[in-house]
Amino acid sequence: MKHPIATFILASTAFTSFPALAEEIPASALPALRAAAGSLSTQLAGDLKRELAANGPESAIQVCRDKAPQIAGELSRNNGWKVTRVSLKARNPLLGMPDAWEQTALQKMQERLAAGEKPETLEVMEVVKEPAGRFLRYAKGMPTQTLCLTCHGAAAEMAPGLKAKIAAAYPRDAATGYTVGMLRGAVSIKQPLD
Ligand code: HEC
Repeated sequence: MKHPIATFILASTAFTSFPALAEEIPASALPALRAAAGSLSTQLAGDLKRELAANGPESAIQVCRDKAPQIAGELSRNNGWKVTRVSLKARNPLLGMPDAWEQTALQKMQERLAAGEKPETLEVMEVVKEPAGRFLRYAKGMPTQTLCLTCHGAAAEMAPGLKAKIAAAYPRDAATGYTVGMLRGAVSIKQPLD
């Protein structure tokens, strides 16, 4: 792996929002952020797999819908952070729509993916200053796995019952058309520093 600081400097200079000096970025925070993002993705994939096998995709909708915000909420409360899942093509605009920093982070990760980086290694970290204080922002890419295609793959190939159920619940769904290895979204963590 590349030295993390080098990556942070690259990421910081490319951002339009108040980039902090590289030495201000607490790289020691990274293991905990990675662990939290990893635990969200791993728990979610495990629960999805189990529910898909046991009761099928229509029933598994509630895993991506209810379980993900539940795990993110627990991680947020336990750490004093804001943990969310976001995407440039969200299914649920209320929870899945990225803010300006997250949009830029997702775009950067897309570019790095296109340049040949592995989707599972994509992450961005930066310290930002906002009216409410300084925040550590972290985004960890969520790669599209085979398991995700049932509900985020080509809309034309989606089972009709499932398609109808998703269309009814998410009239502005943009989260289809993915293939394995694409970036489905990111786990985003915002940590107050002051
Ligand atoms: C059984 C169907 C289903 C499967 C399988 C599924 N998802 Fe989802 N996904 C959904 C639904 C429904 C939502 C909207 C959740 C909500 O209401 O916030 C969603 C939302 C998301 C979001 C939040 C951003 C958005 O689009 O609103 C991400 C990120 C995401 N899914 C990633 C994944 C990944 C990664 C996988 C594979 C590991 C996966 N999903 C598998 C149904 C599914």
